[in-house]
Formats: sequence, C-alpha cells, structure tokens
Amino acid sequence: MSPRPSDVDPFAGPAPVPYARPVTADRPRPPPAAGMGGPAPLPAPAPAAAPGNGASSPEDVAARNAAAAREAAEAAAEMRKVDRDLEFLIRARYAVLYMLTSEERRAEETIRRVAKARTMKVFVWSITEGMKLTDDSAADWNPAEYKDPLKALQFVLDRDVRGLFVFRDAHPYQKNPEFVRKLRDVARKLKETKKTLILLASVLAVPPEMEKEVAVVEYPLPGIPEITEILEKTLRTAKEAFGRELELDQRDKERVIEGALGLTADEAENVFAKSLVQKGTLDIDIVLREKERIVKKSGILEFFPTQASMEEIGGLDRLKDWLSKRQSAFGKAAREYGLPRPKGILLIGVPGCGKSLTAKAVGTFWRLPLLRLDMGKVFAGLVGSSEENMRRAIMMAEAVAPSILWIDELEKGLSGTGSSNNTDGGTSARVFGSFVSWLQEKTSPVFVIATANDVAQLPPELMRKGRFDEIFFADLPTAPEREEIWKIHLGKRRRDPGKFDIAALAKASDQMSGAEIEQGVVAAMFDAFYDQLEVTDAHILKALNETVPLSRTMKEKILDMRAWCRARARPASSAWADTLTPEAERQIETT
Ligand SMILES: Nc1ncnc2c1ncn2[C@@H]1O[C@H](COP(=O)(O)OP(=O)(O)OP(=O)(O)O)[C@@H](O)[C@H]1O
Ligand SMILES: [Mg+2]
Repeated sequence: MSPRPSDVDPFAGPAPVPYARPVTADRPRPPPAAGMGGPAPLPAPAPAAAPGNGASSPEDVAARNAAAAREAAEAAAEMRKVDRDLEFLIRARYAVLYMLTSEERRAEETIRRVAKARTMKVFVWSITEGMKLTDDSAADWNPAEYKDPLKALQFVLDRDVRGLFVFRDAHPYQKNPEFVRKLRDVARKLKETKKTLILLASVLAVPPEMEKEVAVVEYPLPGIPEITEILEKTLRTAKEAFGRELELDQRDKERVIEGALGLTADEAENVFAKSLVQKGTLDIDIVLREKERIVKKSGILEFFPTQASMEEIGGLDRLKDWLSKRQSAFGKAAREYGLPRPKGILLIGVPGCGKSLTAKAVGTFWRLPLLRLDMGKVFAGLVGSSEENMRRAIMMAEAVAPSILWIDELEKGLSGTGSSNNTDGGTSARVFGSFVSWLQEKTSPVFVIATANDVAQLPPELMRKGRFDEIFFADLPTAPEREEIWKIHLGKRRRDPGKFDIAALAKASDQMSGAEIEQGVVAAMFDAFYDQLEVTDAHILKALNETVPLSRTMKEKILDMRAWCRARARPASSAWADTLTPEAERQIETT
C-alpha cells in the first residue's frame, strides 16, 4: 500500500516525491531555483524520457527530468497535510468527496493548490452563480445557465477534462431524491474519468444510500504551520502600518501561535488584528480571552479556567495516585520511554463526592487546557445539529491538544441511545456511536474525563475495553477521608483546623458527601456570623444536625450503584476498597 499522505511532514522540506506528476518531455523548464542555499538536494532521479524524443541529447533529457522533478517536489513541499490527504483521495479515484468545513475559503484554497499540483482545472458551482471556472481562461458556456443543481451535475458528466468540480453548500440537496439519484450516477460514471466531484458543506448530510460511494473529508482547523503563516502575515501588515518592526521574540511568538490553536484561519486573523489595535502588539492574554469568547459562543464547549488543585481533594487516594503517575504522560519523554498516551477515565460516583472537582483539578495539575463539553447542549438542538455539535467539539479539543476534554454528567446526553428509549429517530444513538468510536480510535493527545452519577443510563458499549483507560467509582468518604475534607474546607475559609475537633466532626458527618461537609462549614459560619461570634464545633455540629444527607434519601440508588460498580469499576479510594466488606455493606444498609 502506498503511504498515507499524512505520514509525510509537508514542512520538512522539498523531499517527498510520491506526489510528483509523471514527467513529460514537453514540460516547460521551471525558473532557476532561487534562495540562499541554491537548489535543494534532489530526490531520486526521475525516470528517463520516452525513447523517440530524437532532438534531445541525453544531457538535455536528464536536465529536463531533474528540473521537472524539482518543480514537482517544490509543488509537493508547498502542500500542506490536508492538501496531501485530499490529493491522496483524488489519486485513489474517489469520484465524490464530501468536504466538511465551515471555512469555505480555506478549503477552496486547498482544492486549488491540489489542482495546480496535478494540472487539473477547478470548477465551482453555487446556486447563485451557477458553474464557473476559477482560473482566468474563458468559459465556453454561460455559468448562469447551470444554477439548477441537476443541470450542474449533468455538466460534470458531460465535460471531458481533468477537473475538480466543487459544489458549494451541498447539504440541502441531499434531501432531494432526484439530486441524490443523479449524484449516484455521477459517482458511478466518474470512476473511469479524471474528474472528481467535491461537495463542500458545513453540515454532514450524506444520504444513507450514498454512504459507500462518498468519502467524507473533515477539513481540520489550522495547525501550527498555518497559524504561523497568519501571524507572519499580520506582523508584515503591522510593520507597514506602524512603520516599525514589532518586538516579539521567538518565545512570545510560539505562545501566541499556540494560544490561537483551535480557531479558524479567519478567527485567528481577527484575534491578532484585535490585539494589535488594542495593545499595539500581539498580546497572549488578548488572544486567549478572545479564544475563550469564540469557543463559548459556539455554545457547547467552554474553556474552563480553573485554579482547583489536587490538594483540595480529600480522600480518593487511588484516583489521585493514578492521575499523579500520568502527569507527564503527554510529554516527549513518555513517548520515548515507549508509553502510550492515556485516553481517558470515566468517573462514576455518589453526587457531591468530588467527581467534577477532580476533573477541574486535573486541568491545573497537568497544566493542560480544560475544555468542558456540555452534553445537555449537544442534544438541545439550540445550536446546530447534535452530530455537528459533537464533531465540532472533538475537532476543537484536538486542535488545542494536548488538552483535557471534560464531559460532565455524560449520562444526560445518552438517554436516547437505548433501543427501548429511542424517541429521537436515532440521533443520540448516532452521536453516541461516533463519540465512542472516536474514543476508541483517537490518536490525538486529548484526555477525556467523563463523569456520571446515574449508572442505569450508561450504555454497556461504554464499558468495553479500549474505550476508557479506567473506570473509577467515588463513594461516600470514609471517616479518615472526611477528616481530610473537614480540614480542607475549614482551611479554605481561613479557619485553623487545629482549633476544631476534627474526629468528632468526621463522626458526626457519617454518610455525608464532600459537598455536604462543605455546606456544613458554610452554614455554621453564617450562623456564627449572625450571632457575631467566631465559628466553633458547636455551630458546625448544629448545622450537621439539621442536614438530612442525600445518601439517606438516595439509599436505594447508592446501593444499586455500588453493586453495579463492584463488578465494573475500580474504587477511587483505598479506604473504600477496604471497607467494602459484606459486613460494612450490611452496616450501610441498616443505617
Ligand atoms: N473529596 C472531596 N474533597 C474536598 N471537597 C469535596 C470533595 N468532594 C466534594 N467536595 C466539595 O463539594 C463540591 C461539589 O463536588 P463535586 O461538584 O465535585 O461533586 P460531583 O461528584 O461532581 O457531584 P455531582 O454528581 O452532583 O455532579 C466541590 O466543589 C467541593 O467543594
Ligand atoms: Mg459533578
């Protein structure tokens, strides 16, 4: 099999030849290579020209071949990874490609670059302008005559050229049976030609009967090389505008570029421009703030700024230990050591026992951006389709990778996935399916932390090996864990834990969650403040007395969860593992 184009780094220099065009004798010579270092070293010699090319001496042929190979190598070197992926599909004779992108301009630039490298013409169709050529050559037809999409497809069939036919906003027509039928004809007939149809759309809408014939290309967000280009362009513009060079050292540049990852090309350009206007320079804080705003605007993802630290979590020692051991797991040293990248964990647990808190703390602890995905919103249908929302969220997390994708209350999004509960025409099942397969196959350094507290709604596929690295169960804290939690929350509210009878508090808060302990501290402080007194054990004990722990009202649910987790999950704390003896279980049942 030929190597996938993505295996080759397009910015490594003019080396890769697999994409070089066949060398023909009548190709005009390219201009001599410019640049300080002279011509780049050539790849393997190109094949000799066909015999019968009588006028040329062997030296001429060799020189011409070398020049052509150099030109092809240069064209290939200019191409980006995404260009190469597209070219690969065209060469693999996919007749119809569905290019999924909200960046039409960038996608069309890619198409034009690929077409140039393969000497193909590019036709662009839109409902408003009909069928147009993108280069300067005159069209021998009236573009406006082909506004009808069916006529446009016939045009694609009729033309005898090497060409790429781009259809803008192709998704609405996928609902039209006539269009779909015609599309299938095109897919079949184009296979034997040098023509490829590229459907450009911001929404994935491939009709089921076309799924086998259409290759879907997800156009990725710009990577570091492209953002670098945008930054350099901005700097050049700024130099012209300000009449002086901006002072930005290499480290600042890198930070700004990394900061802009996750944005589209246009968004990055706007963010840089905004920073220039506001601050007269490229300010990383402005870039990050703008990015947070843009990501939030998309509705489902949120950059979650967090200061939570591991020290704020009481108990859960096994979970903390697992996370500590993987703190540097995304670094180069771990790769060189031969370690795989962690995929993610699923945290199941009693409400208020620190699942969300742990997710927040990992962001800080691992020093990675934490993106929170709101499952409820993915399915709410308020912003775009559910599939589109999920796809965007994943793409964004991958663009800013290494990153942590935090899916809080995973079960909320999954209520429609079971066959018995299929009320939404299978949408949740599809979205969930694509999420699970991404989880299974992902190679990008995105660590997923999913949390859930209703195991009954979690589909069994999620538990299979290879989906999460580990499933942890966080139970109600044991007495020693509660002591830790009391100390943490008293300390957080500027009280000296040494002045409290921590053991008594731990005893009094039996069967309470971390959240309830925190509430106990807060309620006691309000009481004391109202009485104009300093808070004491007595205030806290009184507050606890007035609390009915959730574990009492939810007893059945918690027992079910424990039974479920015993077979499937790992205890998040060693204390819990030790106390989960039949004896302890009976004790819990009788409280
Ligand atoms: N183990 C703990 N150590 C310290 N504080 C805790 C702990 N567990 C919970 N808390 C406190 O309770 C608050 C709420 O906990 P958190 O949001 O993490 O619960 P959760 O497990 O996500 O619950 P839910 O299932 O309701 O979402 C935390 O912000 C923290 O202040
Ligand atoms: Mg939570």
